[in-house]
Amino acid sequence: MKTAEIRELYLRFFQERGHVRLPSDNLVPSEPDPTLMFTSAGMVQFKPYFLGATPVFPGREGVWKRATTTQKCLRIGDIENVGRTARHNSFFEMLGNFSFGDYFKQEAAAWAWEFLTSSEWLGLDANRLYVTVYLDDDEAYRVWTQVVGVPESHVSRFGEDENFWPAEAPSKGPNGPCGPCSEIFYDRGPQFGGGAAETGPNTSTGDRFVEIWNLVFTQFDRQEGGLMQPLPQRNIDTGFGLYRVSPILQDKPDFYETDLFLPLIEKVAELTGAPYLGAASVSHRVIAEHVRAVTFAITDGVNLSNTGAGYVIRKLLRRATRHAYLLGARDPMIFKLVTIVVQTMRDAYPEVAAAEATVREAIEAEERQFLRTLGAGLNRLEDALAQTERGGELSGEVVFLLSDTFGFPLDLTLELAEERGVHVNRERYRVLMGEQQERARGASKFKGEIFKEVAAALEAVTRESGPTEFVGFERLNVPATVLAVLNGNAGVEQAREGERVQVVLDHTPFYAEGGGQIGDSGLLEGPHARLIVTGTRKTPQGVFLHDATVLRGVLTQGERVEARVDPARLATQRHHTATHLLQAALRAVLGPSVRQAGSLVSPERLRFDFTHSEALTATQIAEVETLVNRFVQSDFEVSKRTMPIADARATGAMALFGEKYGDTVRVVTVEGPVSTLGVTPEASTVTSRELCGGCHVNRTGEIGAFIIASEEGTAAGVRRIEAYAGEAAVSFARENLERLAHAASLVVATPETLVERLERLQDDLKAARAEVSNLKAEAVNARVAGGQVSAETRELGGFKVAVLNLPGVAANELRLAGDSLLERSGADIAIVASDSGLVVKARKDAVERGANAGKILGVLAVAGGGRGGGRPDMAQGGIKDAQAALRALESAF
Ligand code: SER
Repeated sequence: MKTAEIRELYLRFFQERGHVRLPSDNLVPSEPDPTLMFTSAGMVQFKPYFLGATPVFPGREGVWKRATTTQKCLRIGDIENVGRTARHNSFFEMLGNFSFGDYFKQEAAAWAWEFLTSSEWLGLDANRLYVTVYLDDDEAYRVWTQVVGVPESHVSRFGEDENFWPAEAPSKGPNGPCGPCSEIFYDRGPQFGGGAAETGPNTSTGDRFVEIWNLVFTQFDRQEGGLMQPLPQRNIDTGFGLYRVSPILQDKPDFYETDLFLPLIEKVAELTGAPYLGAASVSHRVIAEHVRAVTFAITDGVNLSNTGAGYVIRKLLRRATRHAYLLGARDPMIFKLVTIVVQTMRDAYPEVAAAEATVREAIEAEERQFLRTLGAGLNRLEDALAQTERGGELSGEVVFLLSDTFGFPLDLTLELAEERGVHVNRERYRVLMGEQQERARGASKFKGEIFKEVAAALEAVTRESGPTEFVGFERLNVPATVLAVLNGNAGVEQAREGERVQVVLDHTPFYAEGGGQIGDSGLLEGPHARLIVTGTRKTPQGVFLHDATVLRGVLTQGERVEARVDPARLATQRHHTATHLLQAALRAVLGPSVRQAGSLVSPERLRFDFTHSEALTATQIAEVETLVNRFVQSDFEVSKRTMPIADARATGAMALFGEKYGDTVRVVTVEGPVSTLGVTPEASTVTSRELCGGCHVNRTGEIGAFIIASEEGTAAGVRRIEAYAGEAAVSFARENLERLAHAASLVVATPETLVERLERLQDDLKAARAEVSNLKAEAVNARVAGGQVSAETRELGGFKVAVLNLPGVAANELRLAGDSLLERSGADIAIVASDSGLVVKARKDAVERGANAGKILGVLAVAGGGRGGGRPDMAQGGIKDAQAALRALESAF
């Protein structure tokens, strides 16, 4: 049975039993979850539903209590084992059926059994199935033995490390929804076993008892301290391992030999020329496994990078590249496997087909770069090995240099050293590596101390006054007290005219740079001084530093000043709220995989980077722009609420991936009915809800207008939009209209008639160019005709050769001259020389008799100093001294 059929049967089985079939969530959870870098189970997207939130789903309106999915998952805990065992995957598919306060243990168990054993469905041999239950879960034990009818000899009890989900939750946490579970195992027989001790599930050192399904009875909400509070509703969360079941049904030793993996492995063998020998071929397996993970991750918006998820995926790809190298590949090849991943997976996950080109490109670029690294490291290693005798030792310093400076992987060094019988001093290498890590930790610590130079003075302020209170959400002008003036390394009493200082206030209306929004500028005005503030920053302890220059007078510590933020901040607020609306509009038009990848909000404009694999079409850009403007015209309220982070998450607020948030967060929401054009012509509720500490307008109408100025790619899988809001949008439009009018006036047109006029001018230009080239051709003809009398016609090797010297003919006209001479002279071969070039043409019948223009030109080129060649009927070359070449020809006659 094909893997695709198993997947389909599963989903159909549960659909027939009242479950809605929902799409897989993104591989990076679409609702940010700081505990997870990647989606690791089918239940991740449903977490709030287990706690009692009403289960609805965008695009699947209606309230339902049962769902079934096939979920893309990535687990990265055991990457080193992938390829080496038959059990470990990075990317895998988990099928699941879920009940949110609806059915419970009895139905879940009975259905699982029916699906596995009924001949209408998978038809597995019930005698080979074993079930485990949690120690004190008598209810589950009774259900399995009495209701489902599994013999007691096939049911066993285990502790919280095996039969609780998450594992060991009662004693160790995490807090949140959890429960006892039952696992179903399939016995593949003693030939898969690890020995006589292997008598049932969880005794395994081999692969005999395979866990194929985990049924979690999510009935507790673990509280801090370990109290297992029963949930008001009892839930079901099951995870069925598709890649555990497919080898059983396809009678294959492991998943690598099944229909989703073998085509990839065979392609690896074909591309590298290294035959596949089953489980021993670790490299083939690693490549096949990892290319799937990388393809799905990039499809879902992960960029190969040096941090976070991007770093993990890059590591996977590099591991695969290294194995390709071991198999002999010296050019990128893994990207060629993407097509097979797409072919095998597109029916279930159409998004991989849409992203194919992007994925191939990103993989190829990374492969190329890493292969270069490998190549350079290899040369150095070869040098070092050449200087080391067999039985000798490669120093830890060399190995460290290779891995640290050249990025050359340690295991390759070990492998190659071993081949040469050279020992590697790994102990020394480890010591050096440890020291390096220490240094790296020190370096990043330093980064957190950017404010070091003013640290001592700041410390006192921080100790005495604590963080600066920000009062700039409501007001731009506020009286405040100067707590400290910092100049260079020191706190100072006073600052005089012309001095650049940092001013600390007791509270401030100035926003400190953060969350993409630039820091405010403005003025500080005291009784004796006036300062211009050019920027505002915040120390890690929350003290605001106003970067200021004294324009006039003297500022003294302890003085009262009027803090005035430049009203340009209102323009910043427009751009900030517009950025939120833009993100919501992009998600509405392009889909929920769009995620913020960076942002800049200033009074002049906004810049928004987001994950998306391909350029937006003009229609999509227009749709997004229109949608934002509809938000604006609807004049919705922009609500800002402060709440505990858990509550914010429960509302589905978008957070920045990788961003750290405190326990209390601010949630900025704009919500209301707008028509999303092509997506839903009828007005429907669109929500923008983000965790954000920045400054916003109160109602969307204040934004006024919104224009997208450009859309472009910045890195693989990341797009950038620049846009204008409010007055900036109007100025942008005005400037462009003026530019258009100016351009039109230059060609005597109006903006309305400009395109038509340009088209006509282009036609005219084309016609004029054609005329010029005709005239040139005629002129060349005329010169050939005029010069013909001086053309020499000789016999050479049985061919009649006409030679004409035409100084001053341009290189691109020589060919024309050659044709003309050939025609007029009636010779077999025509040669035309100008100052620095030569053309040789041979008549077709002469070519048939053995004439060869290319060869003649080659000979002439040698004489004339240059290079040239060509076809038997036509050859042309730039030759330094065409006259010398001709003289050589003379002597050949
Ligand atoms: N959450 C459980 C698991 O991951 C069942 O889906 O095993």
